[in-house]
Amino acid sequence: MPDPIPVLTIDGPSGAGKGTVSRTIAKRLGWHFLDSGAIYRALARAVMTRGTDTGDEQAVARVASEMDLEFICDEDVQIQLDGRDVTDSLYTEECGRVASKIAAFPAVRRALLEKQRAFRKSPGLVADGRDMGTVVFPEASYKVFLTATPEERARRRFLQLKGQGLDVNLDQIIKDLEERDRRDRERKEAPLVAAKGAVEIDSSALSVEEVVDRVLALLP
Ligand code: DC
Repeated sequence: MPDPIPVLTIDGPSGAGKGTVSRTIAKRLGWHFLDSGAIYRALARAVMTRGTDTGDEQAVARVASEMDLEFICDEDVQIQLDGRDVTDSLYTEECGRVASKIAAFPAVRRALLEKQRAFRKSPGLVADGRDMGTVVFPEASYKVFLTATPEERARRRFLQLKGQGLDVNLDQIIKDLEERDRRDRERKEAPLVAAKGAVEIDSSALSVEEVVDRVLALLP
């Protein structure tokens, strides 16, 4: 039986190029796009704004259930948290660090599961994250695990932040990236790992276009 609403999952560590590749593919196929990292980042932002203790699993999970999160998709995606546009504030190093920390809580992951699954709508979904192919959409028809060397991932992040006019330090970025990778890979609940059957692509020496072509070649 053909898959009624096909899902393509793209998991991998930060800086592997998942975001750009997933967005490009979703646009090209006319499919919906789930940036699950943005959901964890928005929760981090909500927790920081409310002054919730980031070490209190139940309190953070309550915020996850209560927060009103909306993705408004136009030319670009705008993310609204409790009625306010928070898009630009989600991509700071601090927000990434807090997101990675609270993402290790099982109760938080459970609270966000259905919010993520709700993105599966016709004609299809491209889902970008850490556990898209293992936990959120284990039945997905197409699964990719996208990696790159830590040096290349740090270099990309450095250029991206510099391009935003931020004063950045490469050594600090490498340290943050290693710390976040370690936490995402070693946590007990939904750790970053390639899903069974996922096709692994190392993007270190590939352009975005080359990665996109390799992923699209997996689809009929
Ligand atoms: O992809 P990102 O860097 O925007 O994600 C931020 C953090 O959110 C990441 O360090 C771990 C967490 N995350 C997660 O645990 N599961 C996902 N599916 C996506 C992100």
